Parts: sequence; C-alpha cells; structure tokens
Amino acid sequence: MDSSDAARYWNAVYAERPAAADPQPNVRLVETVTGLPAGDALDLGCGGSGDALWLADRGWQVTALDISAVAATRLARRARAIGLSDRITAEQHDVRSSLPAREFDLVTAHYFHTPYEQDRTVTLRSAAHQLRAGGWLLVVDHGSTAPWSWNQDPEVRYPAPGEVAAALDLSTERWKVERADMPHRIATGPDGSTAEVIDHVLLIRRTH
Ligand SMILES: C[S@@+](CC[C@H](N)C(=O)[O-])C[C@H]1O[C@@H](n2cnc3c(N)ncnc32)[C@H](O)[C@@H]1O
Repeated sequence: MDSSDAARYWNAVYAERPAAADPQPNVRLVETVTGLPAGDALDLGCGGSGDALWLADRGWQVTALDISAVAATRLARRARAIGLSDRITAEQHDVRSSLPAREFDLVTAHYFHTPYEQDRTVTLRSAAHQLRAGGWLLVVDHGSTAPWSWNQDPEVRYPAPGEVAAALDLSTERWKVERADMPHRIATGPDGSTAEVIDHVLLIRRTH
C-alpha cells in the first residue's frame, strides 16, 4: 500500500473514533521507561497520543510520528492544551520513507501493526542506528488477538520477539537484547470489557 492510501486508511480509523478524553500510556512503556533518565524519544506510530504525552510529562523531549494527520494533529492539540507543546513535536510522517536525521535515547514502537503488508524491519533498524550509546529500542507487538481487535483473522501470526530481533540483525558488538519475552496481562477494550492478552516485548540497548 502506498503512502497516501495508508494515510487515508489510518485517517479513516481515527476520524471515526473521538479523541480520548485522557489518553493513557501503554503498560509496557511505563514498566520499561519508569526510572530511566529523560532524554530524546522517538515514538513511531504515536496513534492515540498516550505514550507521547506520558513521556513528555516525565521530561522527555518527544518526536511523535504517525502516518495519520488526524492522529498527529490530535496529539499536537492535546499537548498545547496541557502545556506540553514545548516537549512534543507531533508530525504526520510515513516512517517507511525516512526518520528525523538525529539521535535519540529512546525509540518506542507500540503495536506498530497494519492490516496490510508493511515491512517494519528497515524502519526499526534505522531507528536502532539513531540511538545514542546507552539508548533503548522498545518494540511491543501483539502476541494474541483481543476480542475487540480489528484483526480477527484466525490465520494471523504474531512474530516472536526473538524473530523480530533476528530480522533486525544488529551487531552484538553495538546492540544488546535486554528483554525478549511474551508476558500476559489483563486488558480493557473500548467497551469496558476485559480479556487476557499477550504482548511480545523486545527491548534492545545500544551499548556503544
Ligand atoms: C495499531 S496502531 C498503534 C498506535 C499506538 N502506538 C498505540 O500503541 O496505540 C498503529 C499506528 O501506526 C501508524 N502507522 C502505520 N503505518 C505507519 C507508517 N508507515 N508511518 C507512520 N505511522 C504509521 C498508524 O496510523 C497507527 O496510529
């Protein structure tokens, strides 16, 4: 799918749901980043805004990118409304084409899935190269299908974190896999119902 079709797809997804009144961060982001010193963060596919806002509130300088202008605009508006606009740059951007030409201390990609084929490996690999020494790449994928998921395809296959790491093929001289596991949690869907879901968590550190 080309960039404008993908943007149209995601704009339609966000346009049909109202912006969350109080966007919340993802569980794995909070458990991973709490305790890290704030720095420069890149949020790939920032979607509903919760992660970027949470990071900025903790002192991170956040570049938040999404192919959907609706998502990026909502984040920018919310950041202005709560006085965080000096810490968040929200942009409509197809991360397959490029990434901002600068270094980061954290790159986060949460549930960066699409209902169409999209090769994420090049993007994640570029992002890993843009980490400063000591910086972190956090990739959190679905490991199971929640009852409310847009993708109820019984054939869907969620790559294990080890497979994602193997595809990135980062040199062990410069990057270290710090976490690659598949924890379970109880999640709440848009209608308030709950279900057990599995996350695929990959955390890689740039050592030098
Ligand atoms: C399943 S949503 C996840 C959103 C958010 N990270 C979260 O945890 O809720 C995937 C997001 O990736 C964005 N996205 C998909 N392809 C993209 C691309 N090529 N460049 C930038 N954003 C993209 C979509 O617009 C959407 O917001």
